[in-house]
Amino acid sequence: MALARLAVLASGRGSNLQALVSAIADGALPARLVGVFSDRPDAAALQRVPAALRWSAEPRSFADREAFDHALTAAVVRSAPDWVVCAGYMRILGGEFTGRFGGRLLNLHPSLLPKYRGLRTHARALEAGDSEYGASVHLVVPELDAGSVIAQARLPILAGDTPRTLALRLLPLEHRLLVAVLQLAVSGRLTEQDAGLHCDGQPLFTPLRLDSSGRLTP
Ligand code: GRF
Repeated sequence: MALARLAVLASGRGSNLQALVSAIADGALPARLVGVFSDRPDAAALQRVPAALRWSAEPRSFADREAFDHALTAAVVRSAPDWVVCAGYMRILGGEFTGRFGGRLLNLHPSLLPKYRGLRTHARALEAGDSEYGASVHLVVPELDAGSVIAQARLPILAGDTPRTLALRLLPLEHRLLVAVLQLAVSGRLTEQDAGLHCDGQPLFTPLRLDSSGRLTP
């Protein structure tokens, strides 16, 4: 069977992208990276892949949001991906993009969705006095961080935690979570049927959970 084609969108340092690159190199993720796309031409993430796989453009150089969205959509379409993954991509995707890739477009978000959509998630969890924090991988829909949640990784919030310590402890879990969800996706175990998310043919009523051995369990 041909390897699943993976496109990744990233705006920053790209450690989650690196987790995918490493999993592919190790043979743990049977996929082929077909492009890395960024709204930040200076993003460190771009340097993690060969130049031939990089695409970036500065949104301000486009007439409006739609024009940038159109260019990004066209670039990703050219890479012919089976799955598109937002891994630290910090720009809201436009309607053309979500319409084109809906159902095979995933985002990694640093919160236990549906809590804390949007930004400042670590600080908001601390301000709310939460005892638990985590990350989610969800399907992308036009509404921000609102698509079906596929899987989550959880960690306890400790006395003295700050947004920075929480982010540091969460990051390795994000890496494992993202790889584990992609393993499901590229092996065809994750499907959308009747507008609902299914895993191994069963409806996914609650998100899968990353266990301490890095596996996803119901
Ligand atoms: C991650 O914490 C992700 O959850 C958030 O941005 C960060 C990206 O990190 N959306 P990296 O660029 O993958 O290192």
